[in-house]
Amino acid sequence: MDMSYFEFAQARYGVTAFNTANPTDVFPVGSTVLKASWRVVTPGENTTGMYTTTADIAKLVNNPISGGNVLASKELISGVEVALIGMHVVSVLVDHPEFAWATFELASNSPNLPEGMSPSSSDPVSDKSSTFYAAGTPANQCNVLADGVHVTVDEETQICSPITQVFREFEFGGASSDRAADIRQVNADFHEQLPSHAVNDSRLDAVFAAYHLVGTVWQNAGTLRPGLNEMDKTAVGSVDLMNSTMETFVQGKGSSCFSCHNTAGNEESKGIPYQAANFGTSHILLGPFFGD
Ligand code: HEC
Repeated sequence: MDMSYFEFAQARYGVTAFNTANPTDVFPVGSTVLKASWRVVTPGENTTGMYTTTADIAKLVNNPISGGNVLASKELISGVEVALIGMHVVSVLVDHPEFAWATFELASNSPNLPEGMSPSSSDPVSDKSSTFYAAGTPANQCNVLADGVHVTVDEETQICSPITQVFREFEFGGASSDRAADIRQVNADFHEQLPSHAVNDSRLDAVFAAYHLVGTVWQNAGTLRPGLNEMDKTAVGSVDLMNSTMETFVQGKGSSCFSCHNTAGNEESKGIPYQAANFGTSHILLGPFFGD
């Protein structure tokens, strides 16, 4: 996050600070926050076209409770090579205190669901394999949360079973065709120009040309207020925006970032109540209410 996001969030962080802040306060213009997804690189794998780094990650272990799912242990595996596969980039623009919600992915993560194919179709999504998709897997066997299925891990290789096959339901987050054309153009320009700019600017890394914008979703100017729990219904732009690596299981028509990031409070529900507030779109600020 940048400093303006940090300072605004810090002043409202915690159960009391959040609930006593003015609910109509908004993050200042320019406030920016990112969330990234990574995967472990297979030893010997060619990582051209991916941003990689090393990380210390929690070791996955089998649940000692019979039938229980895999757990992240306290033990860290250090120096693991990981590749960036997805990134959410969220910023407050002038007149848009709800933030503009954008997401980026590697095209090679997963295939796009072909236009006109139902997510519940028994037809294969693609005859080509992707990182998270095995060629020929029918649509209705993808994006399925192993609900009630016992997920285990080979503690040696850290590979879980069963593996979820993934498709990207909306190539451009459900944007209308003219907006999809804009997204295509932005990507083409970025991919073409970044490498030459990177040669002369040490702050830029040409490898990011491999990542492309799926889409951006926002609200009409002047409409943000506390207590909006259906912001996905009033969304503008890529109204079905999801990242196939981060929102794999919740992709669907009419669902977007705003299905979870909104200004509704939870006075009605169990748990620690939090007030309806414009800044409730930030899940960092909601963390303390969920024990984070
Ligand atoms: C199913 C609910 C859900 C959806 C849909 C969702 N998010 Fe989130 N998001 C979360 C939760 C929960 C967190 C808190 C951190 C975590 O658990 O990773 C979060 C955290 C974030 C963060 C870090 C800052 C913050 O608010 O905590 C960003 C940025 C973000 N999401 C962007 C997006 C974007 C962009 C989309 C749409 C493409 C999206 N999210 C869709 C639930 C969701």
